Amino acid sequence: MNEDMWIVVPAAGRGERMGSSLPKQYITIGEHTMLQHTLTRLLAVKDVAGIVVTLAEGDEHWPSVAAGREARVHSTIGGMTRADSVIAGLRFVLNHAPASSWVLVHDAARPLVSVADIKRLTDAVRNSGAVGGLLASPVNDTLKRVDEYCCVELTVTRRNLWQAQTPQMFRAGELFEALQSGALSGAPADSITDESSAMEGMGHEPLLVEALQPNLKVTRPADLTLATLLLANLQSNS
Ligand code: CTP
Ligand code: MG
Repeated sequence: MNEDMWIVVPAAGRGERMGSSLPKQYITIGEHTMLQHTLTRLLAVKDVAGIVVTLAEGDEHWPSVAAGREARVHSTIGGMTRADSVIAGLRFVLNHAPASSWVLVHDAARPLVSVADIKRLTDAVRNSGAVGGLLASPVNDTLKRVDEYCCVELTVTRRNLWQAQTPQMFRAGELFEALQSGALSGAPADSITDESSAMEGMGHEPLLVEALQPNLKVTRPADLTLATLLLANLQSNS
C-alpha cells in the first residue's frame, strides 16, 4: 500500500493580473468558485491524509467554500510571496506528519487538473527513485526574446523546453529546507516561482511528467473564458 500523502494549496494571492477586485481563486466558474473546483479534484486523489489551504490574512471568502468543511481540509495563513505561502503550508504538514511524507503542492488557480495526471505523477516519482517531480507540458510555440520596446532580439529554440505546472511533489522536510534556504539566500523574492526551482537550487534534478489533460493556470481574463468552457465540458462528460 502507498504511504499517505499531504497536499498544500497556495491560495493567498491577490490575482493582480486578473484585474478583479475579488481574488481570482474566489471567482465563480459555472456553479462553484475556482477554489472549490480545485479542492473537489484534489479530494478525489487516493491516499491523501490531509489538504492544507494557505489563505491571505483576513480572507473573508474562505467560509463560503464548501470543501473547506471536509474533515481532511485544513487552512493556515500564507505569506507575501507564493514561496512564503507554501512554506506556511509545509510548516502545518510538518506539525502533523513525518518529514519524509510526500507533499503535492498545487495552485488554487489550476482548477482543471486531472486526477489521472496526478496519479501518473505520483506513480512515476515513487517508481523512479527521483527526489520528486512535477507535471509539465512541452513548449509548442516558437519563443522570442524581446527588448524593452517589444522588438524581437532573438528566437529561442524550444527544443528541451517545458512549461512547469503543478502539482509538484517532494518530501515535506526536504522541500521546506529548500524553500527556506531560497528565501534566506538573498535571491529576489519572486525568483522562486515553484518548488522545483528551490530543489534545483539545492542541486537536485526533479522528474518531469507530461500532463496529458489541460491544466491551465487561470491568470488573465481570457484564461477564465477558457477555464469556464473546459470545466463545463468536463462536467457534461462525467
Ligand atoms: N499565492 C499564494 N500566496 C502569495 C501569492 C500567490 O498562495 N503570496 C498563490 C495564488 O493564490 C495562486 C498560486 O499561488 O493559487 C499561483 O500564483 P499566481 O497564479 O501568480 O496567483 P496570484 O499571485 O494571485 O496572481 P498575480 O500574480 O496575477 O497577482
Ligand atoms: Mg503571483
